[in-house]
Amino acid sequence: MREYVVAILGATGAVGQRLISELEQSSIPVKKLKLLASKRSAGKKLKFKNQEITVEEAQPDSFNGVDLVLSSAGGAISKKLLPEAVKRGAVCVDNTSAYRMEDDVPLVVPGVNDKELANHHGIIANPNCSTIQMVAALYPIYQRWGIKQIIVSTYQAVSGAGKAAWDEMLNQAQARLNHQDLKAEILPTAADKRHYPMAFNLLPQIDVFEDDGYTHEEWKMIHETKKILLNDQNAGEIKVTATCVRVPIEIGHGETVYFVVKDSSATTAEIQEEIAKTSGLVLQDDPSKQVYPQPLLAAGKRETFVGRIRQDQENDGAFQMWVVADNLLRGAASNTVEIAECLVRDDLVHQTN
Ligand code: A2P
Repeated sequence: MREYVVAILGATGAVGQRLISELEQSSIPVKKLKLLASKRSAGKKLKFKNQEITVEEAQPDSFNGVDLVLSSAGGAISKKLLPEAVKRGAVCVDNTSAYRMEDDVPLVVPGVNDKELANHHGIIANPNCSTIQMVAALYPIYQRWGIKQIIVSTYQAVSGAGKAAWDEMLNQAQARLNHQDLKAEILPTAADKRHYPMAFNLLPQIDVFEDDGYTHEEWKMIHETKKILLNDQNAGEIKVTATCVRVPIEIGHGETVYFVVKDSSATTAEIQEEIAKTSGLVLQDDPSKQVYPQPLLAAGKRETFVGRIRQDQENDGAFQMWVVADNLLRGAASNTVEIAECLVRDDLVHQTN
């Protein structure tokens, strides 16, 4: 059996640490694991399968002899280092948005479009966290009845903005309870000029603004959904629009998803049935017992939780649902490792050109 030399780029980050534990629990035969991060973390020790591994500063030559790279160190680092890894023969699964929209880069949610992996040229992109859980929940519905429109609003946990942003919110919460001033230096995004407190607040800005008034996070949800479901980021066949909001919770994105099916004979009960029988989805939908998905219940789990499914009483073929998943696992590390498992399963850990 082939064994693989694996590197995790961004191993010390919020997603990176979960990549280590997901890899540990995966079916991938790991010959050796390299943990890569910035210079600041070089020399730090992290555990993998009861073995201590010293973190190294990520440099082009770090990828010599590496078969598989799992990366989550930010878009700029991916742009700089993944071509170096590919040049040295590695196949990379990237968790950033750096390559998602490139034509020759598969954008994959296993169970939805993993057949696209066969077309990889060294880099495979993991979709945006909010997109993954929405597409996972919509896919069985799309397959059975077709979908013509999606309107989504997100309630996104602060861990999705990285470890430093997560710490910033916790510090603000502590300061608020101590009746002190709240310091804001990162959120809504380090990439923009103004920063606002996240604790006890809502920020309707995730990532920077585009010229059309949408944020880049909203843009990602719209175009990634089309690329995953229709293999065309600009396809008109499904109309998608999104509003993305950061909320002051630690882990677990929530989404209200309004969707219009093509075949309007669909019923709420049938949609519940499809969700319940789809692997990776968990139906939590019983208003009579107040059963519905919640971030606190989803944190630490790999599944996507779906509830509050109901028909729009004023619009034929239109439904609403509430979808929750652990953004660091389902929306990032688990999806990335599942992609890597598919690559190993299909013997695709080599460059195809
Ligand atoms: P470090 O911990 O050394 O800064 P998060 O998404 O939680 O903010 O984590 C970002 C990850 O990306 C961390 O592992 C971080 O390492 C890593 N990283 C940041 N800058 C670099 C860099 N220049 N080269 C390699 N890794 C980096």
